[in-house]
Amino acid sequence: MIMDTKEIKEEARGLAAELTALRRYFHAHPEQSWQEVHTQQKIREYLDRQGIPNVPSTKTGVIATLKGKKSSDTVLGIRADIDALPITEESDPGYKSQCPGTMHACGHDTHIAILLGTAKILAAHRDELPVTVRLIFQPAEEYIADSGAFHMKDDPLVQECSRIIALHIQGEVPYGQANLQSGPIMAASDTFDVYVQGQGGHGAHPEKTIDPIAAGVAFYNSVQTLVSREIRALDAAVIGITAFQSGTTSNVIPDTAHLMGTCRTFTPALREQFPVQLQRVADGIGTATRTKIRVDYHFGTPVMVNDEAVTATGLEAAAAIFGRENVITQEPRMGGEDFAKYAAPKAMLCLGGGFVDGRQRYPQHSPYFDIDERALPLGVAWFLEYIRRYGKELEK
Ligand code: NI
Repeated sequence: MIMDTKEIKEEARGLAAELTALRRYFHAHPEQSWQEVHTQQKIREYLDRQGIPNVPSTKTGVIATLKGKKSSDTVLGIRADIDALPITEESDPGYKSQCPGTMHACGHDTHIAILLGTAKILAAHRDELPVTVRLIFQPAEEYIADSGAFHMKDDPLVQECSRIIALHIQGEVPYGQANLQSGPIMAASDTFDVYVQGQGGHGAHPEKTIDPIAAGVAFYNSVQTLVSREIRALDAAVIGITAFQSGTTSNVIPDTAHLMGTCRTFTPALREQFPVQLQRVADGIGTATRTKIRVDYHFGTPVMVNDEAVTATGLEAAAAIFGRENVITQEPRMGGEDFAKYAAPKAMLCLGGGFVDGRQRYPQHSPYFDIDERALPLGVAWFLEYIRRYGKELEK
């Protein structure tokens, strides 16, 4: 790429107003997982206007490719997730969600805007591109049970990528800062359902029933000792029951109970144990309470691991764009991220988007979530600087 770091920063800054307008458009028109039909169409229209070849992928996703006269066949993937959450926006920043019940509360609207802005600058410099760049607009990141990456990873266009990079805006990290580090950064994230089968009857005659609520409570209590008594203290793990549904009124003992929960860890061996442990507890409680308890365990996202080499390039690019003192370290998080499902070596940057002017910073998934839009050009600049540096590395 003929552009140097200074030019990259200038071109990204020059796009600030357009990036803000794009982000606000997608913020006002959010769509939930697997419903991103309008979002997909808008992305394709924008790419078409820049003359960038693109195809639909994975129902509501889009994949675009930029290859110029000097581009090698090495393909660098850049991924943005595009879906919103089932949340009603509670504040009105002037570009409030026009769909009550749906909100870009994780900031994926910024990811779309940043990748489209990157595409526009890349298209203007197409013939200087050192590598082939593939832009991956991925649907349904938030839908753990059947997430977009699980399907998109198998698209041949994605499988051609030698590396894939991504970024995630962070509402609690101040604008101007960024985090990137190699190794595990986000936990494996699984879910489970527990079905308790009892025998319902009159509330006045528990002796003639098999009470599924008593069994569910015993199961809940027993599960609390799995992490504290069976897992090494140095291995991070969460086993949480987050829903308990049973019964409808005060004088009837119900037939069934349904519990739901989530398991999180960074240790693959533990992850294999979780369903076995849960079913073991279920069988024991079932015997003790005369109920039948079934555990359906759903493997969600694996541990998100930033590859060392991919991260090394990204760290140099981050130091150039944010300043070395603004590239911070963070503790790994117990949250999950379906970017982990892509097979290629990969790395994800956390882009600071927290307000620095005294406005309150809300966490991701809050109905008040918003970000400092000055972070948008920084995201574009980091992607561009990454491409430049990756191209240089490959020349050697
Ligand atoms: Ni997200």
